Amino acid sequence: MVEEVLVGLDCRSGRMYVDGTVGEGGHAAAILNRTAPDGKLWGLDRDPAVLKIAAGRLAPYTSRFRLFHRSYAQLGEILAETGEPAAAGILLDLGLSLQQLQRSGRGFSFQGDEPLDMRFNPEEPGQTAADLLNRATPAALEKIFHEYGEEPHARRYARLVVASRRQHPFRFTHQLVALVQEAQGPGRRRGERHPATRVFQALRIAVNRELEELALFLGEAPGWLLPGGRLAVISYHSLEDRLVKQRMQAWERAGVMRRLTRKPLAPSPGEVEQNPRARSAKLRVAEKIGK
Ligand SMILES: C[S@@+](CC[C@H](N)C(=O)[O-])C[C@H]1O[C@@H](n2cnc3c(N)ncnc32)[C@H](O)[C@@H]1O
Repeated sequence: MVEEVLVGLDCRSGRMYVDGTVGEGGHAAAILNRTAPDGKLWGLDRDPAVLKIAAGRLAPYTSRFRLFHRSYAQLGEILAETGEPAAAGILLDLGLSLQQLQRSGRGFSFQGDEPLDMRFNPEEPGQTAADLLNRATPAALEKIFHEYGEEPHARRYARLVVASRRQHPFRFTHQLVALVQEAQGPGRRRGERHPATRVFQALRIAVNRELEELALFLGEAPGWLLPGGRLAVISYHSLEDRLVKQRMQAWERAGVMRRLTRKPLAPSPGEVEQNPRARSAKLRVAEKIGK
């Protein structure tokens, strides 16, 4: 949804935009193109490995961009440190990038066999997915699988994890995939998602405290925008989307921000065909009131 984002953010030259989840820099490059010759972009990401990729991709834009190894929830600190009053537009494209899924070696995917880490920022001391599986109570695991994964077998999986970890503490993705497959049995219908999809998503959200970071960001975001500035958020999960939707409604009631999308925008069928991971994407945009 690149074009929808560029329009939603009202990208123009001479202004400063923030990509709070810069990833490999796809949206960032598009924003820098659209805001030529002198628009600026600040890109933030929690993952130092993807920031290196973004730095290479954005290098042709020389002095027009800066990258920060920080959470988007810390944007206020960056504004203060750099003396910028606020941004003309902020983008969040939540979730994880293709390179994290396929090449990070941190266990985001159930396709290969990798250490169960799942931290966006492996330099942070926080717990890994393996720590969580090996230490959490059955009730806590059930809550994670149920709430963050919308997994119908949450209780069963939580019990199986606890039974299994006594013999073999979780270390690698194949252990979790095998547990889910054994519990499910054979017979997945064609086109049906892999049974481990929801469990992996749930663990990633829990390990990275993704909903907490988003809530912190939404608590401050209007203050980080110039009057007339735009916020665009792409979410991939109903809990994220609900947080964004409810906060945008509250801002509108309080006269702080105006919603520009009453209903979220979805990717076109052509985009979903090219990139099946985009199928659950929802884009919401709001504008800060004031001149
Ligand atoms: C879907 S990707 C973004 C892709 C990017 N829009 C592009 O065009 O390449 C999501 C990115 O958000 C990052 N991320 C997740 N939570 C974050 C947070 N709290 N602060 C900053 N980055 C975060 C992930 O590390 C990942 O690189």
